[in-house]
Amino acid sequence: MAQFWKPGTAKPRLLDDEEGGVLFYTAPSSSSSSFGYASLESQRQRLPVFKYRTSILYLVETHSTTIIVGETGSGKTTQIPQYLKEAGWADGGRIIACTQPRRLAVQSVAARLAEEMGVKLGEEVGYTIRFEDVTNSELTRIKFLTDGVLLREMMDDPLLSKYSVIMVDEAHERSLSTDILLGLLKKIQRRRPELRLIIASATIEAKSMAEFFHNRKRRPQLEGEDNRLQTEPAILSVEGRGYNVQIFYIEEPVSDYLQATVSTVMSIHDKEPMGDILVFLTGQDDIDTAVQMITEQAQNSGNKSSFGMIVLPLYSGLTRSNQDLVFSPSPRGKRKVIISTNIAETSLTLEGIVYVVDSGFSKQRFYNPITDIENLVVAPISKASARQRAGRAGRVRPGKCYRLYTEDYFVNEMSSNGIPEMQRSNLVSTVIQLKALGIDNILGFDWPASPSAEAMVRSLEVLYSLGVLDDDAKLTSPVGFQVAELPLDPMVSKMIIASDKLECSEEIITVAAILSVQSIWISVKGQRELDEAKLRFAASEGDHVTFLNVYRGFLQSNKSSKWCHKNFINYHAMKKVMEVREQLRRVAQRLGLALKSCQNDIQVLRKAVTAGFFANACRLEAYSHNGTYKTLRGSQEVYIHPSSVLFRVNPKWVIYHSLVSTDRQYMRNVISIDPSWLREAAPHFYNKQPLNPPTHHH
Ligand code: CDP
Ligand code: MG
Repeated sequence: MAQFWKPGTAKPRLLDDEEGGVLFYTAPSSSSSSFGYASLESQRQRLPVFKYRTSILYLVETHSTTIIVGETGSGKTTQIPQYLKEAGWADGGRIIACTQPRRLAVQSVAARLAEEMGVKLGEEVGYTIRFEDVTNSELTRIKFLTDGVLLREMMDDPLLSKYSVIMVDEAHERSLSTDILLGLLKKIQRRRPELRLIIASATIEAKSMAEFFHNRKRRPQLEGEDNRLQTEPAILSVEGRGYNVQIFYIEEPVSDYLQATVSTVMSIHDKEPMGDILVFLTGQDDIDTAVQMITEQAQNSGNKSSFGMIVLPLYSGLTRSNQDLVFSPSPRGKRKVIISTNIAETSLTLEGIVYVVDSGFSKQRFYNPITDIENLVVAPISKASARQRAGRAGRVRPGKCYRLYTEDYFVNEMSSNGIPEMQRSNLVSTVIQLKALGIDNILGFDWPASPSAEAMVRSLEVLYSLGVLDDDAKLTSPVGFQVAELPLDPMVSKMIIASDKLECSEEIITVAAILSVQSIWISVKGQRELDEAKLRFAASEGDHVTFLNVYRGFLQSNKSSKWCHKNFINYHAMKKVMEVREQLRRVAQRLGLALKSCQNDIQVLRKAVTAGFFANACRLEAYSHNGTYKTLRGSQEVYIHPSSVLFRVNPKWVIYHSLVSTDRQYMRNVISIDPSWLREAAPHFYNKQPLNPPTHHH
């Protein structure tokens, strides 16, 4: 299928508000053009932030908060923590922290830093993500972590007293955890004036961020306080380097962006000179499909180019060795094609990219407080994101960006900026975290972006029904505190706590561990083989019980990788499950839960799931021939996902773990229940409405 491309028409302008611009980016500095075999040290000195080293250190010394804005790849994440350490901010046992919204970015950046500093990862430089702590309590001086993990650390150490500087990176992403963190750090600063904050981002409303941190309230001087310390934030902008990027738009809107992506990559490969290609798609599913399609087409088309392609996926949850492939330079005479989620937009820098293909979409979280449904939706990106994506093509030489949407769409329809995640999320986890930190007046909390009141009320309602909050909206004891303590979604935590009384904690913890990894199945070309493999473990009660069967089989095989291979089970995922399971058992023991097994009494297991997930209960529509369910709460139409063992089985009452929406809302990981358990589990939630509402038909 041929596509017709048309270059953007507007006059070349600099970074500011280009309207469908042809070219942007400032001219490169001459020293940056060579690329390849320079030593790590000279590579470091060539990065744009290097020129600002002294200024950055001076600003951090003299200001409570420093906001640093700089293009992706300018060296913010990898260099600034090193400068701070060299200047003594990690002396006397103190630690420099750098947060990232994404787990994969934490791992990759920490590994890079350890390499630059010539130290072993996990010693002087370490990282922590949920369920994975690669730090050393004595040795670690620079620590990378997700902002979610730093929030959790506040539960044990509310003032984060071991950190001298906290760099909140990728602040422009406005992730839910970043925003909560910013609100809390502002509070901590009042109590710990010596704490320094650095807010780093690729593009930020630096002024509004500065406004947020500007502490106008005069505060009495504390004893021994450095009175030269400025409370008004400093703003520093790192002059970017980068080459011009020519933008092309598609002439006619495409109906199938996956197909359009594949043919665009093939045509770049046929017609354009050497240089790597970076493609932005939305998630593991479409990325894996695209990798497969491109690989096949390249084999069949009898490659017109004189050189080959290496097609690689990039998304979180990728194994270590696959990550390494993405970051290592292309072998001589080969072109790398990296097919990525949003993660390559600003979180990770890939060298060698000359061409970008931008689908115009990403996966985003959307929450509807009316129906109380949150899901990940493939949605259009903003102009700000589109510019970032295009910019990735101009790092090593002038590049080209192919946008799979029309110029008219970009100019007239794309929104300028995204909506902060805070304003499109379910707030159950947020509320519980703030409550656990002793913040009672949540509506009055100083948010960088205020969440909607409806979403707040909804989450209070759910937490009340879970038995986590009492009538005064305070955490209940012990359940509320226990739920807050578990590093899991509150519904999963509640399920684990309920399993104590039901005497099935061993099994429920297994289920929780499996739900925390992306998938335990191997994605294979022949769907039929995978389906057959699944049948070997399928339980009529649903997916949770099926997971338990897989886990038991894995143990029986003595955790054999061969067994996994034979059964289309992802061995690495199962090893991760074992690790997570052990950690959850430890936390559960600390919380005083008895770890008991229900053996084969599956009913108690289903009751425990109900105790956590009653809000996700659905009922099969009477006379429904196509498996239509309605949620009990919002009467939303939902369907069982084809990957579920209950697909086409359609029990009358089910509970789902999560929803994915494509053409319809699909329930993922489904278990059948008895409706009487709902009222047992959540009397307040279900008392108001009859459980057997008359079904209406039009
Ligand atoms: O944070 P920012 O986007 O400003 O830049 P950075 O991530 O600190 O990257 C600075 C330089 O380090 C870039 O030239 C990257 O290509 C390089 N880098 C790398 O080669 N491998 C990594 N895993 C991370 C960074
Ligand atoms: Mg960075």
